Amino acid sequence: MLSKVNSISLIGIEGFVVNIEVDIQNGLPVFNMVGLPDMIIKESKERVRAAIKNSGYEFPLGKITVNFAPADLKKEGPHFDLAIAVGILLSNNAMDLFDTRECIFIGELSLNGEVRGVKGILPMVLEAKRSKYKRVFIPCDNKNELAYVRDIEILPLSTLNELVEYINGEILLDRVEFMDNSLKKRVQYDMDFNEVKGQKLAKRAIEVASSGGHNIIMIGPPGGGKTMLSQRIPTILPFLDYNQSIEVTRIYSISGLLKEKGQIVLETPFRNPHHTASTASIIGGGSNPMPGEVSLAHNGVLFLDELPEFRRDALEALRQPMEDGRVSISRAKGKYTYPARFMLVASMNPCPCGFYGYQLKQCKCSEVQIRSYLNRVSGPLLDRIDIHVSVEPVQFDEINNNIVEESSESIRLRVEKARIAQQERFSGETIQNNAQMKTKHLKKYCALDNKGEALLKVAFKSMSLSTRAYSKILKISRTIADMDASINIEEKHIAEALQYRILDRKYWG
Ligand SMILES: Nc1ncnc2c1ncn2[C@@H]1O[C@H](COP(=O)(O)OP(=O)(O)OP(=O)(O)O)[C@@H](O)[C@H]1O
Ligand SMILES: [Mg+2]
Repeated sequence: MLSKVNSISLIGIEGFVVNIEVDIQNGLPVFNMVGLPDMIIKESKERVRAAIKNSGYEFPLGKITVNFAPADLKKEGPHFDLAIAVGILLSNNAMDLFDTRECIFIGELSLNGEVRGVKGILPMVLEAKRSKYKRVFIPCDNKNELAYVRDIEILPLSTLNELVEYINGEILLDRVEFMDNSLKKRVQYDMDFNEVKGQKLAKRAIEVASSGGHNIIMIGPPGGGKTMLSQRIPTILPFLDYNQSIEVTRIYSISGLLKEKGQIVLETPFRNPHHTASTASIIGGGSNPMPGEVSLAHNGVLFLDELPEFRRDALEALRQPMEDGRVSISRAKGKYTYPARFMLVASMNPCPCGFYGYQLKQCKCSEVQIRSYLNRVSGPLLDRIDIHVSVEPVQFDEINNNIVEESSESIRLRVEKARIAQQERFSGETIQNNAQMKTKHLKKYCALDNKGEALLKVAFKSMSLSTRAYSKILKISRTIADMDASINIEEKHIAEALQYRILDRKYWG
């Protein structure tokens, strides 16, 4: 007899529905699988056989054929076990007939018939919902991850027996309840900007960057507080909204990085890969391509501490995701696309000893050493970083005083306001913040008044700025004007924006 069941397969974080047909015919006992299943699925024969027997059901003798459709797409993963087992039990009349057309089955089976948790459950269930399935059976271990998915019935299972008993009408299953309010349980950070003394200019630059989603690089001598400042940036960024949380959770779900039994991710991602990291780990890759650091930093911060120490090819590979907001990796199995829209925060010393350009201490490096150190950061990468800021160590009096510094929360309130202004501005566009503006947006949203135009003209000449720098200055000015709740970009906004574009000339000019 033939039965049909459905499951989901993933390519990257995109899912597609897999229709599984199970046919049992009389004949010599063989178990065949067709339709591009990978090695792990082929191994499921043994798990399914043992799970069915150990759950107390009869495993059919005869010729079993399992067909996965669509036939042209490769299917991966151990999570088809449950669907295959259901198909076999149905074909073998081991449970009541029921309509499987509206159901999706996801789960790995252990030899004794337990349903085990799987990676990537969230993107799979979101695909089931998108494809208008009504009900999805999932491993109990994965249920926390799905507490924020609406409009589809999610039924967690701990054993194969439970499923059969449910279908036979002997028991009920507790469906996963949509947790409406938990998102309001806000994130607590264990760091705060009020721990950083002084550094007014750097803090202001960071606030500008955070308000407009601009990339930022901090340059200065050792011990200046660059790392300390960078680590606190997530604490002033707006909290993730529902859709952003789901996007981030999708990525962490397939990477197997969810904490606390697969809770949804509420914290703004902050990733700081070590400078020895491989290009594949930063960009994503491997034979089964996994998201890299750029995708794990999606909707958050990618912090590259000691930028020139990173591998040159890793830095160059950052350019594409920085431009497109996503990463595409081609493999024989298909094209994997992962979102990668992050705020890049970089820090570096200006030379090997760290004191080049610093007035209070003599630099020990030769001209050649300094050049070759700075040149490890290429022009095109530097061009993609809107804000450049110098961070020098605070003086003793600034550390040793009783001034109460502003808290992250208070800064965040301002950042949120500036972001709301941008959301309103770009509501009809495909971009979200000022940093993402392209030429056409600059024309539309960054008109200057006469005074502003005059200032920019003078600056252009005297600072010999490039056309690229011109568009950066407009974007940053737009952000500063938004922070000021000003509809127009004024002279003072441009004057401040210009400050964030002079450092590259000091070091790389
Ligand atoms: N403004 C500050 N307020 C309070 N503590 C500070 C400040 N600046 C530096 N510190 C202290 O100095 C330590 C070193 O700072 P940090 O590691 O951030 O410097 P850095 O600029 O990253 O240096 P390097 O170039 O060597 O990486 C911090 O952990 C902190 O304890
Ligand atoms: Mg540091």
